[in-house]
Amino acid sequence: MSLKAKLENRTATISVLGLGYVGLPLAVEFAKVGFPVIGIDVDENRLHTIKTGALVSSDVDANTLSRLVSNGSFILTSSYAAIEQCDVIIICVPTPLSKTKEPDISCILTAAEGILKFLQKGQLIVLESTTFPGTTEEIFLPGIEAKGLRVGQDIYLAYSPERINPGNRDFPLRQIPKVIGAISETCREMVSALYATVIGRVVPVSST
Ligand SMILES: NC(=O)c1ccc[n+]([C@@H]2O[C@H](COP(=O)([O-])OP(=O)(O)OC[C@H]3O[C@@H](n4cnc5c(N)ncnc54)[C@H](O)[C@@H]3O)[C@@H](O)[C@H]2O)c1
Repeated sequence: MSLKAKLENRTATISVLGLGYVGLPLAVEFAKVGFPVIGIDVDENRLHTIKTGALVSSDVDANTLSRLVSNGSFILTSSYAAIEQCDVIIICVPTPLSKTKEPDISCILTAAEGILKFLQKGQLIVLESTTFPGTTEEIFLPGIEAKGLRVGQDIYLAYSPERINPGNRDFPLRQIPKVIGAISETCREMVSALYATVIGRVVPVSST
């Protein structure tokens, strides 16, 4: 089945890398609408807190989260190997500001390296972390092409900056228009189909 069809009938397996303020609510939204979701985080303590229902967050309903974890709709792991079985990989790792107020992209570099090891034909990769213009093309594109995969045909690549304001109940995730930039028209089509399942308004733009 094509990725587009799997997105439309909600059978695509979605992985979210980094289950913090941004990644966890997003993962929960996808699981709530029926997608199988795998949450990947390098912090075992964070995974344990989520798994045991001990997480306190104003952006995630604790009962919903524990139902999704216990019925297997939302699987949690620290292993990047799970990426091999995913159709969509969304990167929400931190990019703290350095002393000179520039984003530190070391977690994006680690994530990119991990993803490339398990990359499969047909997958969609979306970067959500806040970063410099150019990160998607400069960090992800060369590694993908070096594996002999053609972006837009074999693999889909996009950037969609997260704009959530954690704790703001007036603008929950679903109501924040989702800006999406992609490497090609086909990539844009795939990423639009993905976010349209959980977000009210998707705003495609001309580039990443
Ligand atoms: N929090 C906000 O208000 C907000 C709003 C918009 C955008 N953003 C951006 O979203 C991104 C994520 O921010 P956040 O606030 O969710 O961060 P966070 O610190 O709350 O969570 C990040 C999670 O990623 C995990 N992580 C770190 N390196 C990893 C790796 N290599 N692989 C897998 N998991 C990894 C951490 O253990 C942590 O649980 C950042 O780029 C941030 O600038 C944040």
